[in-house]
Amino acid sequence: MKIETFFTANFQEKEGQFTNSIVVMIDVLRASSTIANALMNGAKEIIPVESTEKAVELYSKLSRETRLLAGERNGVKPTGFELGNSPFEFETEHIKGKTIILTTTNGTKLYQKAKNAKIKLIGSFVNSDSVINYIDKLILQEVSQEINIEFLCAGNYGQFSYEDTLCAGSLIYKLIQLRSNLELSDSSHAAKSLFLQFSGNLKNFIKTKEHPTFLDSIGLGNDIDFCLDFDRCPVVPVIHTYNAQLGLFSIRL
Ligand code: MLT
Repeated sequence: MKIETFFTANFQEKEGQFTNSIVVMIDVLRASSTIANALMNGAKEIIPVESTEKAVELYSKLSRETRLLAGERNGVKPTGFELGNSPFEFETEHIKGKTIILTTTNGTKLYQKAKNAKIKLIGSFVNSDSVINYIDKLILQEVSQEINIEFLCAGNYGQFSYEDTLCAGSLIYKLIQLRSNLELSDSSHAAKSLFLQFSGNLKNFIKTKEHPTFLDSIGLGNDIDFCLDFDRCPVVPVIHTYNAQLGLFSIRL
């Protein structure tokens, strides 16, 4: 059983690559954390969509009573959208039972990756223990089979990001505490080592990095604190196919 880590979503998917894998998609700031919070607070499902145009088109086809249009470009809510991508916007009565169409800069592109994976989960600091316990139970069920665990980081505009890699590292570290027989790829070993190097001062370290600095500069510092808060949203969002022809997914608990 091998643990693999991808530092960005910018990789060439090989034929059949993830078919026997549990894949965890990570976009700490902010898509993964926002999705976990929305589902924890009663949203029915999240449909991630790559472009604002496609998001608006899908929105126009859904029932008025149960739909919400959310997302960001450069951190900011697009014109005409009902919600942005701040986790705090997904805590009101307004979202209960709703289908939320979400488009974000990096995170929603990530969910198109690994579409053939056996199991696809959304991971972040806010649900880290829940994700690890979920994977641990899945591994128990799969004892007779070879299954790999793959962490896919969204990164930032195709580049490495500390927050996603450190999150992957923390998840890997937790997992190997539970199971000693897991083989780490070089990238997984690097993510874990990086996490251990900075774990004593994790939040302050991440806050000085590129995307957090940008979010803080546009007044979204509270979102960073939310997203770096371990186990604040103890839920496991799972990605299902919504419409195979359109290549759309539904993320639910
Ligand atoms: C993204 O998907 O790129 C992020 O969630 C951006 C953000 O809203 O901070």
